[in-house]
Amino acid sequence: MKTILITGGAGFIGSHVVRLFVTKYPDYKIVNLDKLTYAGNLENLKDIENQPNYTFEKVDIVNEDAVNALFAKYQFDGVIHLAAESHVDRSILNPLEFIMTNVLGTVNLLNAAKNNWKDNYNGKLFYHVSTDEVYGSLGETGFFTETTAYDPRSPYSASKASSDHFVRAYENTYHLPIVISNCSNNYGSYQFPEKLIPLFINNIRNNKPLPVYGKGDYTRDWLYVEDHATAIDTIFHNGKLGETYNIGGFNEWQNIDLIRLLCTIMDKKLNRNTGESEKLITYVTDRPGHDKRYAIDATKLNTELGWKPSLQFEEGLEKTVDWYLENEAWLNNVTSGEYLQYYIKQYQVG
Ligand code: NAD
Ligand code: TYD
Repeated sequence: MKTILITGGAGFIGSHVVRLFVTKYPDYKIVNLDKLTYAGNLENLKDIENQPNYTFEKVDIVNEDAVNALFAKYQFDGVIHLAAESHVDRSILNPLEFIMTNVLGTVNLLNAAKNNWKDNYNGKLFYHVSTDEVYGSLGETGFFTETTAYDPRSPYSASKASSDHFVRAYENTYHLPIVISNCSNNYGSYQFPEKLIPLFINNIRNNKPLPVYGKGDYTRDWLYVEDHATAIDTIFHNGKLGETYNIGGFNEWQNIDLIRLLCTIMDKKLNRNTGESEKLITYVTDRPGHDKRYAIDATKLNTELGWKPSLQFEEGLEKTVDWYLENEAWLNNVTSGEYLQYYIKQYQVG
């Protein structure tokens, strides 16, 4: 029997990781720690919330005493740390929140693990989930590998890079058993509709403008969220201590091409005339400091641990559209309240 702490389990990726671990490992006790910010939603875990091996704890990782109390209560064998402020645009509006949660919150967890495990690290693991954005921005060619130098360029990526450095510093200084993964852009069910794909699905269904930053010629490498969860499972169980693993979809898309594909799928699903959703495309002022291109080389994870993505992008995107259209109540629920204020501030429209 292992007791595993998953932080940020009520968010987008965290909820998929919690679901995978709760169902795949009935002999593990999974404790989901989450502050339930605007991005955290227990509805994301409705289907597994009554499983006997699942427990939820509402805790803010910035609160050192609360984090320490949780470690004392459960005596965790492992930590999978996903809790974070995760949206680049919000980090531009309010960087401090990102430093508090992503840096201070991570250091609180590292301290709690170190103090609770008291140098008896046998069988213990602190797994830090990070992003490819720590590597900065690529030109037309090349890929991020595990040895690419860090060059974060937004408050979000700077806060994640800082947290990665602290995780590594705890390994070097205190020999804390750690592993880090850096993943590319995720998409799929339960993603908060501030990120490109769910935002545009929601706007298309409501016939609202699709705000494309700049010329739409930025490139991202997209991975289906359930494939990220299986990669985390693989690395948690088989990864080598102290290592970094890059996770990616081998799947680069320029924003405007992706948006056109999404519009085509939405036209079909909503029985609209071909080209109708594309008319909603509106070019807007670019994001300040916008990173040009991200692309992950996930060869190490593939060759050393045998992981690869399971879905083609077109198939994953269609599944994702279907999920949002079948879960309108979820979408309507998360796009009320705070969301409306954020939307007006970010896009200067209602
Ligand atoms: P998300 O914003 O959907 O969810 C974040 C979760 O963390 C929410 O449930 C929120 O309530 C919780 N949280 C935030 N602040 C907290 C605090 N102070 N204390 C406790 N809980 C708190 O994020 P996501 O997209 O699921 O990302 C999860 C992790 O994966 C993050 O660390 C992110 O940096 C990383 N990541 C995300 C992507 C992506 O494409 N979304 C890609 C690579 C890596
Ligand atoms: P996003 O989903 O915010 O992820 P990230 O910035 O972490 O890669 O954005 C993905 C891409 O889509 C990015 O190049 C910015 C762009 N984008 C828009 O053009 N319009 C939008 O309204 C949003 C949210 C993103």
